[in-house]
Amino acid sequence: MSEDQKPKGAIGRFLALPPDSVPKTIFIAVSVCLVASMIVSAAAVALRPTQAVNALKDKQINILQVAGIYDPNKDVLESFAAFEPQILELATGEFTDQFDVATFDDRDAADDPATSVALDDDPAGIGRQGKFVTVYLLRDDAGEIDKVILPLHGYGLWSTLYGFIALEENGNDIFGLQFYEHAETPGLGAEVDNPRWKALWNGKKLADENGELQISVTKAVPAAGADYHIDALAGATLTTVGVHNLVNFWMGETGYQPFLDNLKAGGI
Ligand SMILES: Cc1cc2nc3c(=O)[nH]c(=O)nc-3n(C[C@H](O)[C@H](O)[C@H](O)COP(=O)(O)O)c2cc1C
Repeated sequence: MSEDQKPKGAIGRFLALPPDSVPKTIFIAVSVCLVASMIVSAAAVALRPTQAVNALKDKQINILQVAGIYDPNKDVLESFAAFEPQILELATGEFTDQFDVATFDDRDAADDPATSVALDDDPAGIGRQGKFVTVYLLRDDAGEIDKVILPLHGYGLWSTLYGFIALEENGNDIFGLQFYEHAETPGLGAEVDNPRWKALWNGKKLADENGELQISVTKAVPAAGADYHIDALAGATLTTVGVHNLVNFWMGETGYQPFLDNLKAGGI
């Protein structure tokens, strides 16, 4: 090759390399990775609003289901309008209007030191507890409370389970419980989603006649009796313990007890 035919500059020398040379192979591999990661990032950013809308819709469907009024043939938003959402201050058991219920985010509030407390005694394994939560009231035609839907969450074996419990107007009888988000193992801990297991909650009671919290999710029926007992999940003792702990935590003194006392006393 004469001096005139030799490629000029770094780019020229690079282009003149054979296609299977190491620099060209690395260049192509890096270029493909860069383009692919840009496409994935762009898709993730573009789809974020749609994902948020779908996640909200899924949560609303779960609230409708746990309250027993989900109709798949009806528009979710239209059905959801049946609920009266309220922000509850856990410590007082009373509703507050210091936040806008339309924009209040329970999880953000539970992360924010201004609106949450770090838990020393933390049987539900949540670290911090929000001082305020969004609850949903379902009223009958006369405007009286028919059901209250309360959010709860806590750690299972692999993940935090997020769900809702629906209580009858007496604040003690359980209408239903279901989780809308968790990462327990399909066939084991994820059997919390099994309709047959969920159906076991219907008609159970939280507290006995003396107001003592008795609800249990265990293998054996406790001394308090079957009215307060939900059978453990087969082969998933650790998720079961998590569910038992989180339900007892949220239904207890640092959870909804002040609100349930107010509800029972007719103060809501
Ligand atoms: C791959 C794998 C996934 C598991 N997932 C769960 C689970 O989601 N929830 C759970 O409680 N146990 C799960 N287990 C089982 C626990 O390790 C443990 O054996 C079980 O909770 C004991 O339940 P048992 O006393 O009812 O048999 C899993 C085990 C394996 C090997």
